[in-house]
Amino acid sequence: MTDVQLLEALRAIVGERGVLADPADLENYNVDWRHVFKGQARCAVLPRTTDEVAGVIRLCASEGIAVVPHGGNTGLSGGATPDGSGRQVVLSLARMRAIRDIDVLGETMEVEAGCILQTAQEAAAAAGLMLPISLAAEGSAQIGGVLSTNAGGTNVLRHGMSRARVLGLEVVTADGEIVNGLRRLRKDNAGYDWKQWFIGTEGTLGIITAAVLQLAPQSLHRVTALLAVPDADAALKVLRVARQQIGETLNAFELMSGAALELVERHQGLKTPLAPSEWFVLMEASSCLPGLRDAVEGLLAMVLEEGDATDGVIAESERQEGELWLLRESITEAESREGRSLKHDVSVPISGIPAFLREADAAVALAFPGSRINAFGHAGDGNIHYNVVVPASSDGPALNALVHDLVVKHQGSISAEHGIGQYRVSELERCCSAAELKLARRVKAALDPAGLMNPGKVMAPAPEAQ
Ligand code: FAD
Ligand code: MLT
Ligand code: ZN
Repeated sequence: MTDVQLLEALRAIVGERGVLADPADLENYNVDWRHVFKGQARCAVLPRTTDEVAGVIRLCASEGIAVVPHGGNTGLSGGATPDGSGRQVVLSLARMRAIRDIDVLGETMEVEAGCILQTAQEAAAAAGLMLPISLAAEGSAQIGGVLSTNAGGTNVLRHGMSRARVLGLEVVTADGEIVNGLRRLRKDNAGYDWKQWFIGTEGTLGIITAAVLQLAPQSLHRVTALLAVPDADAALKVLRVARQQIGETLNAFELMSGAALELVERHQGLKTPLAPSEWFVLMEASSCLPGLRDAVEGLLAMVLEEGDATDGVIAESERQEGELWLLRESITEAESREGRSLKHDVSVPISGIPAFLREADAAVALAFPGSRINAFGHAGDGNIHYNVVVPASSDGPALNALVHDLVVKHQGSISAEHGIGQYRVSELERCCSAAELKLARRVKAALDPAGLMNPGKVMAPAPEAQ
């Protein structure tokens, strides 16, 4: 099929305005959020319905054309960026953004894949509920992208990863079949839980077109506090006290290095309200019951008394809460303005965080003088963004391997929440066991035998197929 014939056939499925082929229109689809990965799409196609998605996939399958699903393009691993061949079709879900239904009694929402996360949050709030998936990219990230990456964010401690919110899923498989599993059930053990095959697999097994999400009750009382702590050991002691004192009300426990907040001040002009410190903790708790603020004040007094925190402030208003969170949520943007950075989205068992940080800091300083560590993250989940700002000439793969080897030593994961995309394919091969890779390849071969769903992402083709 020539390019002209392909565009015509796609337009017949999705309409004239649903196909973009002009180089200027494709710019946004050809490069990732960080401008690290650049490709060349043959065209971008924007279906309006699940039937249209299925039609596009069937056409591409019959022509042997690879498809790259595209959400809000905020992914940090290059998963939504096509390769440079100029042959891959980008499939954007941006025109499928309806919130189909909110069931207040059942606390569920049925939403199309292209709906922006923040729009879904706002709709849940308008119905007196909450969608507890929260990340700094929520103003652009789409539900389909969030689920395809099994995004984490700042509420995982209490509400789990995105996967935990999914009750039902509608997908289009690699051969263009629609599978409708949009059930609103909390309990459903009828056969394989196939929706899990499409969550967190970054579009390599099929297209997510809609989902039923489990919402949560809104909390009437919320308390947000920023603490200065001397080191990561002290931060974990604060976490322990918080778990003992306010337990399940703890939504978020974020660790930020002083260096990370310096970047935020330098690039975003946002000042930390506490004096400089090596480390800071941002904590948020919420509850329907009164008394939370007193409990948080009590725990603050305890950790200050013990010396595990050296200073602290509790937000007095929603505006102040927003200001504290803005510090945390601006780190990624500030880092991107600082120059070249190598991201390591790692997790280790929570108790292993301090030792991991000590060893990684020493090893990076020794092997890569001139690099600067920007460490922060979701310490309550054991997830540290161990990002390193490096000179342009630094050997990125060698630095990645050094950090990931330490992660493996500490029984951690080389991707806690950002996925593998194209950024970490070789590192996954290196760090993952052969048996796990073999199992994953068997699933890929079964669900996408022609290898047309987002090829080159998550896994390289099996050695025998290369
Ligand atoms: P995209 O970037 O468009 O795509 C991501 C992957 O999903 C790609 O592989 C793509 O092919 C696939 N995909 C997209 N839509 C579909 C679909 N409908 N069906 C099948 N596959 C699809 N992540 C976290 O986990 N926690 C954070 O705290 C966090 N903070 C962030 C902060 C900033 C400032 C930024 C820029 C990103 C952050 N992220 C974070 C990254 C996060 O992965 C994304 O924000 C989000 O999950 C991706 O959604 P998206 O719609 O932008 O997907
Ligand atoms: C965040 O938590 O802000 C992002 O996931 C981290 C990053 O940009 O590395
Ligand atoms: Zn994160």
